[in-house]
Amino acid sequence: MKNITVIGSGTMGNGIAHVFAQNGFEISLVDLKEEFLKKAMATIDKNLDRQVGKGILTLEQKEDTLGRITTFTHLDEGVKSADLVVEAATENMSIKLDLFKKIDYLAPKSAILASNTSSISITKIASATQRPTQVIGMHFMNPVPVMKLIEVIRGYATSDEVTQNIMKLSEGLGKVPVEVNDYPGFVANRILMPMINEAIYTLFEGVAGVAEIDTVMKLGMAHPMGPLQLADFIGLDVCLSILKVLHDGFGNPKYAPCPLLINMVEAGYKGVKTGEGFYHYT
Ligand code: CAA
Repeated sequence: MKNITVIGSGTMGNGIAHVFAQNGFEISLVDLKEEFLKKAMATIDKNLDRQVGKGILTLEQKEDTLGRITTFTHLDEGVKSADLVVEAATENMSIKLDLFKKIDYLAPKSAILASNTSSISITKIASATQRPTQVIGMHFMNPVPVMKLIEVIRGYATSDEVTQNIMKLSEGLGKVPVEVNDYPGFVANRILMPMINEAIYTLFEGVAGVAEIDTVMKLGMAHPMGPLQLADFIGLDVCLSILKVLHDGFGNPKYAPCPLLINMVEAGYKGVKTGEGFYHYT
């Protein structure tokens, strides 16, 4: 594989493009507007500078990495020579189904189509295409250049060959891929989101304050961030939507989102991206 197309240039998409380009792949980065792509390239530039500052990359390697990324606002041009497409668009079922239908039509027949979805069924996404054996989940973690894990999700029809290909490719990126099956929340969010939800319930029920809950988990369990800070970082709207997927998918009340989380999202307190969540961001 040489040509990788990344669809969506937001936080996850620009991180995914960064990591592939850093490892020698040619990247087509696709988004709806030129301004989104400009912002993404500026973010990649800044994150590459951090790596240069730490001696992980030389200035020349930084420039080469940037030189391997081409941006597109038209999907047809962006996917036409892809060996692998990694979709990292908005986490919305109808947007993803529509996108995969189009990508399936426009990308070479041999291309593997991957989604970075954090909770939407890969089997469902694959059903929108004529190549369900070649559709797979590649769930990167934020911040992508730093986090080692790629959760590789096999849809019901994903072939062994495609799975092995993606596992090997992920290792070539310096990541650690873990193969999991396609059930609600996969593994990462099935375990992470109930912990975050329980932290919100702990606050809601007045057991302890925000800083106290986070300090217990940071210093007591050696987590790099407390669960409430992590929820702000992920986005409270994203946490709510993943909990709904778990709740609907398993029909088990243990996944019911805390009313405080629902209220905060409805009030527009979505965490870092809106400047307000469990913490205040300036
Ligand atoms: N690109 C490149 N390097 C980056 C970076 C980026 N975007 N962001 C941070 N870094 C580097 C920094 O340069 C720094 O490197 P050194 O330690 O070598 O100096 C290192 O990462 C740590 O960064 P900071 O010093 O700025 O801050 P920190 O020590 O607080 O670490 C963090 C930041 C890595 C994000 C850490 O707090 C952490 O691990 N948090 C938890 C992250 C996590 O759990 N992510 C998963 C979220 S869930 C998800 O993504 C999936 C989902 O479906 C919801």
